[in-house]
Formats: sequence, C-alpha cells, structure tokens
Amino acid sequence: MQTILRGNDAPRSDEEPAFDLEKFLAISKQLDLTGIPLEDAGKYPLHESEVRVLRYMQDTELYTVHYMKALMATCALADTEARAFLVNWGYEECYHGRALAKFLELAGHAPSERSVAHFAKPRKPWEILQDLGSRFLSFLSDDFVAVHTTWGALNELTACHAYASLAEQTQNPVLAQIVRRIIKDERRHFAFYYQQARRRLHTPLARRMVRFALEKTWEPVGGPMNPEHLDFVAVYLFGEGQGRARTREVDETIARLPGMEWFNLLTKSTAASIERVGPVARP
Ligand SMILES: [Fe+2]
Ligand SMILES: [Fe+2]
Repeated sequence: MQTILRGNDAPRSDEEPAFDLEKFLAISKQLDLTGIPLEDAGKYPLHESEVRVLRYMQDTELYTVHYMKALMATCALADTEARAFLVNWGYEECYHGRALAKFLELAGHAPSERSVAHFAKPRKPWEILQDLGSRFLSFLSDDFVAVHTTWGALNELTACHAYASLAEQTQNPVLAQIVRRIIKDERRHFAFYYQQARRRLHTPLARRMVRFALEKTWEPVGGPMNPEHLDFVAVYLFGEGQGRARTREVDETIARLPGMEWFNLLTKSTAASIERVGPVARP
C-alpha cells in the first residue's frame, strides 16, 4: 500500500513501532514549544471549524486522566513498565491540552471551559458501571488488560492521524507547528500501547474480550465526553480524500495485531458520521 504519511507525521502502516521504556522516560517532558512563534498565532487565519475541532481535542487530551484512572485500577498497575509509562503519559497528554488551550487564546478564541477537575467528577451511571465491569474482569483475568492496551493503541494512532490531518488542512502555520510537535509524543504513546497489545493478545480469551469490548462499546477518541461534536470532528478530520485514507491506515495497522484481522471500526464509524452530518466547512 502506498503510504500517505511523511517524516514526523503519523506512523506509516508498514512501520512496526518500537518502544524503549528507558528512552521514553529519559525524554518525557512537557510539550516543548521552543522556537514556535506563539505570539504570531493571531496573525494567521483560523477557521471556525478548526476552533471547534481544537476545543474537542483540548477536552480529549484532558480526559486522559479518566483512561489513566481506569488502567491504574487493573492489574496493569503491577507491571513495572506499564506503571512507569502511565504516569508520564498522563503528564504529557495534560500538556497537549494546555498547549491547544494556549493557542486558542493567543489566536483570539476562548478555549474549552472544561478543566481536568471537570473530568474527574462522578460521571454518568453507565460509565461508572463500565469502569466497575472492567475492574472486575481484570481481577478475574490478566487477559483483560489486552482490552485497555488495544484500545489505547487505537486511540493514540487515531490521535496521530487526527493531528496530521489538522496540520495539513490549516492555513495557520503556528497551529501546524504545535500539532506536529504533539504528533511526536503521540507516536511514542502509540508505540507503547501497540507493543503491549501485541504482547497481551496472545490467548484466544484475550482476543475474544477485545473483540467484544471494541465492537460493543468503542467510540472514537474524545466521543464519550463530547458526543455532540464527535460527528463534526470525525468528518472534518477524516471525511474527505486523504482523511478517508487515514482511517483505512489506522484500521489496517490495528488489524495486524494478533487476532485483530477483523478490525475496521474507525472507517465504519467515520462513514456513519458522514452519513449523519454530511459535508462540513473547511479553511
Ligand atoms: Fe495527546
Ligand atoms: Fe497520546
């Protein structure tokens, strides 16, 4: 397959991500915006669709605390490598959200008003039930962690492509530079989850649980906390030409994990979003 991605863009579908924990810990830090002329953010155009997408992504980044909490409640916590990764991962994601909020402000737009505290509040009853179910299953079987790690690989890879699509479409070079820096982190996060998923999808039970959880409960990253914007954002990022190719690339990469050859959910859910909202305005 001919790849549509380049350089520091999202990972290519024919590229096996390698994850080195020591290297990850050594370079993990808050998003480095050095050298990006942030003060120029407002000098370039920013389309209203981009503002909507950026607020959604800001919320998505901050919502990481929820996934982190869910994972920390499973037996993944006993795994030294996973534990070390998760702490730094949450820290990095938080700074992605802060960078997007800062950019919106500098460009003259209000960021999303939600804060980390908002996402830490008690949530809807079904989400609480889902958490309890996941804790119970992970207690019954180590294999259940495969659900979290496969889900994580999918979300991180989707994030890589979402930011790459945003960078590609924007006419604001400051935004393009910020999101390309974020992509570098997302690639490293993806490498961790993908490696973990490959390792944990080694039993028929793990594969069955992953398939059941993804088919029945998965929504694209950011969807659970922002359902009213999900379709719009999905169509903006993945609804046309190159974007459609990106969803296929994500699905093909996830489908190469053991027992995951059936996977096509991102392409399917994007098609459903296009069906519901039709074309959206672009810069
Ligand atoms: Fe992120
Ligand atoms: Fe990430």
